[in-house]
Amino acid sequence: MQLLGGLSGEKFLSQIWQKKPLLVRKAIPGFKGVVQAPELFALSSRHDVESRLVSRRRGSWHLEQGPFSRTQIARLPRSGWTLLVHGLNLELPEADALLRRFRFLPYARFDDVMVSYAAAGGGVGPHFDSYDVFLLQGPGQRRWRVGRPREPRLDPKAPLRILSNFRPDKEWLLETGDMLYLPPGWAHDGVALEPSFTYSIGFRAPSHQEVAREFLAFLQDHVALAGTYADRGAKPQRRPAEVPKRMVQHAAVVARRIHWRTADVARFLGEYLSAPKPQTVFSRPRTPRSPARFAALCHARGMRLDLRTRMLFREREFFLNGEQVEPPGRLRRFLARLADERALPPGERLTQPLLGLLHDWYLAGWLRIGERHE
Ligand code: SIN
Ligand code: CO
Repeated sequence: MQLLGGLSGEKFLSQIWQKKPLLVRKAIPGFKGVVQAPELFALSSRHDVESRLVSRRRGSWHLEQGPFSRTQIARLPRSGWTLLVHGLNLELPEADALLRRFRFLPYARFDDVMVSYAAAGGGVGPHFDSYDVFLLQGPGQRRWRVGRPREPRLDPKAPLRILSNFRPDKEWLLETGDMLYLPPGWAHDGVALEPSFTYSIGFRAPSHQEVAREFLAFLQDHVALAGTYADRGAKPQRRPAEVPKRMVQHAAVVARRIHWRTADVARFLGEYLSAPKPQTVFSRPRTPRSPARFAALCHARGMRLDLRTRMLFREREFFLNGEQVEPPGRLRRFLARLADERALPPGERLTQPLLGLLHDWYLAGWLRIGERHE
């Protein structure tokens, strides 16, 4: 794979992934980026798109959260700032296509494509991330310095996580189309040498704490225990404010009755990993087609998942935007193909139960008519 500097997916996963940085020159030859500055400024002015502006003035760091007005953008100085826009893949088909070049990794690990547009001297400062990231250089040059994981010390005065004990081991100048892979925990600092774009293709890994917390929340809706505590055999209370021991013992017995199977954890995980980010809004079709018309149009033009849709599957279960579906066996092949490819060509005849599912997803704005994004 050119994207991985000639390494196969297997080699990359066994030798590099989560182990050490990898610099790939010309990972995407002729890469032009997927967004230009005016479009990026327009995205950063939207309330439903997460954006941040990081600047450094007279040695101190500043952070502003978007959205940004046209006047704010027009007032930016010539140097020393960077504008970050998250979730680019949820807005631009080209950014989604960029993300899906990494499909040798499971979609369950995909986070998003973020872009930074920096003026000369701009950057977010030395820091580390808890995610795996591929830093793909768009137009313009950026110098990256990288240091191995060590006990971090953070600058207490900075409004963002800046390492005060950054010690780089390596330095590279990235040109358009070059890419740097960094495992979690590796410190890095990118500085634009001229106005330049960097695309961060990020991979999430839920922390143990997050899995535990979210699974407990899932269990709340799935545990049903009958019965109520009863005082049978209780003696008169000597200290009325004291919680009776028998009540504690009873609660402990109830707590021990909370059971789950691996299948429950798997269902939780599918729902959790496919849930859209909180700010995601799906747009429903303006003039919804009837099921019959929808089927005819999909047959003629194909269909695709909306850019914001997260679709995963495991064994018999499918997970779409945080919801679990267990379709009849004969639909599974079709749905698994849709989940992998995210778009299907014209020519599919939709049988009744499948049409029922897909039409619902279409009405929710999760699925669209037409194989290609307009
Ligand atoms: C940047 O593009 O400047 C920041 C990306 C990162 O460090 O993860
Ligand atoms: Co970073």
